[in-house]
Amino acid sequence: MISALMGQRTPRPPVWFMRQAGRYMSEYRELRKKHSFMELCHEPDLATEITLQPICSFDMDAAIFFCDILVTAEALGSQVDIIEKRGPVIANPFRLSSDLDQLLSSEEAMGKLEYTSKALRQIRGALSEDKALLGFVGAPLTVASYMVEGGSSSSVPTVFRMIAEEPKLFQGLMERLTDLSILYIESQRNAGVDAVQIFESWASLLPLPIYREHVFPHLKRLVEATHHPEKPLILFALAQQPLWDLLGTLPVHALSLGHGLSLTGMRDRFPGKALQGNLDSRFLLCEKETLLKAADDILEEMSNQPGYIFNLGHGITPPTPEDHIAALVERVRQFG
Ligand code: CP3
Repeated sequence: MISALMGQRTPRPPVWFMRQAGRYMSEYRELRKKHSFMELCHEPDLATEITLQPICSFDMDAAIFFCDILVTAEALGSQVDIIEKRGPVIANPFRLSSDLDQLLSSEEAMGKLEYTSKALRQIRGALSEDKALLGFVGAPLTVASYMVEGGSSSSVPTVFRMIAEEPKLFQGLMERLTDLSILYIESQRNAGVDAVQIFESWASLLPLPIYREHVFPHLKRLVEATHHPEKPLILFALAQQPLWDLLGTLPVHALSLGHGLSLTGMRDRFPGKALQGNLDSRFLLCEKETLLKAADDILEEMSNQPGYIFNLGHGITPPTPEDHIAALVERVRQFG
């Protein structure tokens, strides 16, 4: 996994999946009956157990830390809850300049995130050495969108309005999220992660000129401050080509693509970057033969390409049958 992230040729592509731990797994659903989602994140023993569940069941090449991007928002003062069938809800949305004054300092917020270091150290200790451990953070805009909207939103009207009418307030929030994310990535590395994925899931909800002016400088600062030649950063975004042309200029080792983009097209555009992705997660809900045929198409497209990691275009969704994940991992492992 690390060789591939470094852009090297590997005997077969390494494989892992976004949301590889979660509700599609019966073991996870059993634990979830007894605990709220945030309890699962806050309790290191539970987070360790859940992180390892998919590795034990399906033998992926990397474990991603079981947690959520919204723990940084929570550490700064957002009251975050994850509600069944509704997703994240924030009871005290960020709207006013007094909300900016009330955010905790980055140092105080890092104190509140100590449980993540404890969990990561336990996970690294329990995970075999040939598996990579991936940490992650949400990109400032993606986390800010939940803090400002108060939950999931497909058009982020409050963020849009804040940028238009109170750009300094938006900038203040983005700066605070960026400062904290820099420290949080460093603490994850100190606790033993091999690589960190930055989730900019909602990049394309804003028009590109607005993104370029009001959002990109913060992401750029985050990436430049945490860039390290031997500690890879992976940037995931749901974005079309014009936005990737901007994001691809950042000094990250790897780009994780949503479905619909051409992997070879992106390879030609960004020859120095490793690529990750981008099987459409909806194939997981098709017949197994259809799923494996779609996987073969990608494996063949990327065969002999250095720096390639097999993954989905977005996360595994709950109705996915567990045996489809088993079959998919097996298919990638047998390739080459
Ligand atoms: O990928 C993994 O297995 C690691 C753990 C992980 C979760 N969320 C667990 C989770 C990671 C890396 C995330 C990232 C995350 N969280 C993102 C970026 C990736 C993406 O999906 O675009 C975002 C936008 C969030 C915010 C968030 N958290 C949402 C929108 C939801 C609801 C999603 C849903 O499917 O209901 C969550 C909750 C959440 N995070 C769940 C899991 C397993 C489901 C919680 C439950 O058990 O009810």
